[in-house]
Amino acid sequence: MSEVGQYKNFVRIISEFWNGVFLIEITGSFKELETFFKLSPPIFIRHVCPFQFKVDLAGQKDKQQLFAVLAELTRLLSKEKSFSIQLRGDKSSELRGFLQDYLVGKGFVLQIKNPVQIVSGIVKNEELYLGVSLASENLSSWAGGACHFAVEKEQISRAEFKLLELMDLGILQLPTQGNVLDIGAAPGGWSRILAQKGLQVVAVDPANLDSRLIENENIVHYKEIIQEYLAVEKKSCFEVILNDMKMEAIESAYIMREAADLLTENSGVAVMTLKLPHIKVKQKIGKVKKILASEYRIIGMRNLFHNRQEVTAVLQKY
Ligand SMILES: C[S@@+](CC[C@H](N)C(=O)[O-])C[C@H]1O[C@@H](n2cnc3c(N)ncnc32)[C@H](O)[C@@H]1O
Repeated sequence: MSEVGQYKNFVRIISEFWNGVFLIEITGSFKELETFFKLSPPIFIRHVCPFQFKVDLAGQKDKQQLFAVLAELTRLLSKEKSFSIQLRGDKSSELRGFLQDYLVGKGFVLQIKNPVQIVSGIVKNEELYLGVSLASENLSSWAGGACHFAVEKEQISRAEFKLLELMDLGILQLPTQGNVLDIGAAPGGWSRILAQKGLQVVAVDPANLDSRLIENENIVHYKEIIQEYLAVEKKSCFEVILNDMKMEAIESAYIMREAADLLTENSGVAVMTLKLPHIKVKQKIGKVKKILASEYRIIGMRNLFHNRQEVTAVLQKY
């Protein structure tokens, strides 16, 4: 949670609900915190939500206090916009059902997937924290930033979820047509998603692609390391470069710098996964940013729910 230190004039940690989930106090409004995050986006904080209410669930007769809070809460919700409930902690499924029925009964529009408003809650030690915000204010529209995508039978690798998460967060927008260089492509999950979107993929990896991709007309595989490929290819012909290579982050950043010349002049977007050490993470990220700075502006950098000991950066060529 050392990243909170970056916002220390604004944020104070009060307690930890459970591993990695903190109750914080902010000196300004939730809107101001959102603006703060927009100006200086966090890398390791995946989700944030406001709690305007606290209910003591123990020793309540007739849920009186809860109903009083719900009456207040409905004033913060709009009937014009859909809502969903994201409740975590003890007995949360039981309580979620109750809250859902209550709000639907009052005429609010429930929409589980992609709701506009979120009623967030945490139940811990018989205390319920509740709040309302727009999904767009919470850094992620999934509870706790934990996005769970359905597994498709065509899925090739778990790495596919990283790409889907970047798009879901709105950090990455892929073009509808054009050429993509997929560096470190095997077994081919990212290439599969790109090809499915109608993009023409050059996949570079010394390892084999999944056999289901061999006949794919949108994918050409160069079975070699990227250093060999870059030594030969010099044309600026790619709209997008993706790099999910299993490689030390600084070495990988130098490759991204060299590869920048292959991006088309106007629209060039790149994605890079940085494999991180367990110590001195901040220094490593700082060095990578410095290396990339001559060629790219960093649009976003996040420790995704589907990242392991890594962060993924989205870059825009200058
Ligand atoms: C995590 S996997 C990539 C998974 C892929 N994104 C997917 O969706 O299936 C990392 C890959 O990086 C490749 N790799 C490592 N060093 C490389 C290099 N110098 N050039 C090209 N690929 C490299 C490995 O062979 C490995 O297949």
